[in-house]
Amino acid sequence: MAETASLNIEDKTVELPIVVGSEGEKALDISKLRAETGYITLDQGYGNTGSCQSDITFIDGDKGILRYRGYAIEDLAANSTFIETAYLLIWGELPSEEPLKEFSALFSKHQMLREGIKHHFNLFPPNSPPMAVLSSVLNALSCYYPELMEIEDEETFTEASARIMSKVRTIAAYSYRQQLGHHIEYPHPKKKFAENFLHMMFSQPYNEFEPDPILVKALDLIFLLHADHEQNCSTSTVRMVGSSEANLFASVAAGVGALWGPLHGGANVAVVEMLERISAENLSVSDFVSQVKDKKAGIRLMGFGHRVYKNFDPRANIIKKSCEEVLAKLHIDDPMLDIAKELEAVALEDEYFIQRKLYPNVDFYSGVILRALGIPKEMFTVIFAIGRMPGWIAQWYEESKSTKISRPRQIYTGSVERTYQPIGERS
Ligand code: CMC
Repeated sequence: MAETASLNIEDKTVELPIVVGSEGEKALDISKLRAETGYITLDQGYGNTGSCQSDITFIDGDKGILRYRGYAIEDLAANSTFIETAYLLIWGELPSEEPLKEFSALFSKHQMLREGIKHHFNLFPPNSPPMAVLSSVLNALSCYYPELMEIEDEETFTEASARIMSKVRTIAAYSYRQQLGHHIEYPHPKKKFAENFLHMMFSQPYNEFEPDPILVKALDLIFLLHADHEQNCSTSTVRMVGSSEANLFASVAAGVGALWGPLHGGANVAVVEMLERISAENLSVSDFVSQVKDKKAGIRLMGFGHRVYKNFDPRANIIKKSCEEVLAKLHIDDPMLDIAKELEAVALEDEYFIQRKLYPNVDFYSGVILRALGIPKEMFTVIFAIGRMPGWIAQWYEESKSTKISRPRQIYTGSVERTYQPIGERS
């Protein structure tokens, strides 16, 4: 393969180096283009722009492939756990027994919040969005751990990342309880990651919540499936913030903000609201799909479509299967699942969706499982954030090895130079 590509522009020919990834993905390195020609590239929404070279996650959207550090998501979903997968994402290899034990032990060690942090929760008004609370409290953690603001060695990084990953579920559960006006339930030293989260969400004094192991496994799977997804909106945000050498707490707090939107992590809430609306208004699925296609109403089929996947989202297949298993084993008959399945079937046969390569994404079925777990929809995107934390941390760490701040350019389209008019002379 050629090592460069030639670009003819005005009276110049420039050679653009070709960069090839380990899976054969190809890119043109345009970093010297402006210096050599005066041109920049323009790619609104970055659909065609590589922002970094990364060893962490590989996606082939046309083939529906997702791999963390080379391991297929299907393989990890069938055989691994969220914590082991988090280790893999952060450190690059699956751990042997001892390092995994040590890594898990760090989660127990750091799961408590300082008592002072509890006061932050009381200051949020009732009905505060849990994503706002999560982002604020994650940022506030940096005030409690000044020694972790600058990460100069692996040991400090391990401490900071274990603290964040462990505490994020404590923060999430506290915010839920505080909004309900319930007492705060401390993390349990003996419970594992997902079970401990459910304990903090739902245990009552003298009445410990003991979930069915199927539900615990399903939640662990949801965390695992969300653990990383290369350069999506929130991960790019985390890397962007981190590129200014901002600390890890501030960077992941910014990631929570980016994840919140309904086109990204907030889609899992939007899916359930869409299903509820179809049910409440007694709409037929085909009428709803017609509204979506009409576009005038500005309605999207939430949980469908993906910037990268143009065939299927492998996470959606795994989640759908898990959703059916959980509901069947627990004998839960959820009409939302029936509507979701019908919507999927109708959309997959419809030219509008076929032409645009729109398939169910990870959020299409995750809300139905989360409902079965008893998790209110306001918390769905928070669950996504808990799962995505190891990915953000791994990507932040990778970014921290580079010394280049991320700073895109633009094509300015505003007024050309004009002079200041005193207020009385303005028309
Ligand atoms: N329903 C109806 N039409 C859609 C949808 C949808 N869900 N998604 C895309 N389209 C149409 C869109 O109107 C456009 O049509 P046209 O070519 O006629 O203008 C075409 O498909 C391309 O859409 P786009 O907005 O240019 O595609 P994108 O790659 O920029 O957007 C997306 C990707 C995920 C934001 C979008 O598909 C969407 O809004 N989906 C619904 C929200 C959702 O489920 N988001 C979760 C994504 S997965 C979780 C995560 O990683 O965040």
